[in-house]
Amino acid sequence: MSDIIHEKRLAAEKAVDLINDGDVVGLGTGSTVHFFLLKLSESIRNGSLKNIVGVATSKNTEQKAVELGIPVSALNSNPVINITVDGADEIDPEFNLIKGGGGALLREKIIAQASKQLVIVADPSKFSERLFQKFRLPVEVFPMALGVEAHYLMGLGAVPEQRVDEKGKTYITDEGNFILDCKFSIESDILEIDRKINSRAGVAEHGLFLNMATKIISMGNGFAKIFENSQELLKLKSAKK
Ligand code: A5P
Repeated sequence: MSDIIHEKRLAAEKAVDLINDGDVVGLGTGSTVHFFLLKLSESIRNGSLKNIVGVATSKNTEQKAVELGIPVSALNSNPVINITVDGADEIDPEFNLIKGGGGALLREKIIAQASKQLVIVADPSKFSERLFQKFRLPVEVFPMALGVEAHYLMGLGAVPEQRVDEKGKTYITDEGNFILDCKFSIESDILEIDRKINSRAGVAEHGLFLNMATKIISMGNGFAKIFENSQELLKLKSAKK
């Protein structure tokens, strides 16, 4: 197992410590959350966690959860989620995130905003000083608005590119929409971009998750560690310099 996969696994498994009996758990999407699902399923099977209900952030996660024996229910039946465990593509020191590399940003944000706690599990490669250093911003748009939204995003300084799947075909989200992956300069004002894209008809959602994560689990001194606030994270980073 490569170092990075090992780090993903340790961070994701640690998140199971935060789950309590009876919790409604938001199940994120991606390769890091995959390890959370495995561990959660094991805890349900061996009886250390009881009465768990999962609410999935994508069709892919829902299928995995069902295969692993994690009870799954709809958000409409569980409008309040105790805790969601999800991954991220980029994390800044203030716990702001870019998400949507796996294309599930719309459901992920709906479930995150319904959650009392949003716990992000991530290997250390996801951290950067400023968002957009490492990752483009996924913007999910309604198909008929693709051209007009691409034009609008260019006006905000982005270089948008329509996402395609691994076969080179148009990428279609679980909700039947398209994604524009938008390169923004790291000088960009994330609050302004969030505000402007939020108010745009034709955009289903974008991947900036500002001020939503309540905890980050990543590696600290060789162990998976739960970071409760950005100061703890910064301390660890400056100790390493
Ligand atoms: C899914 O749409 C994303 O938001 C994922 O949570 C994100 O891409 C992290 O994925 P990995 O855990 O695979 O890096």
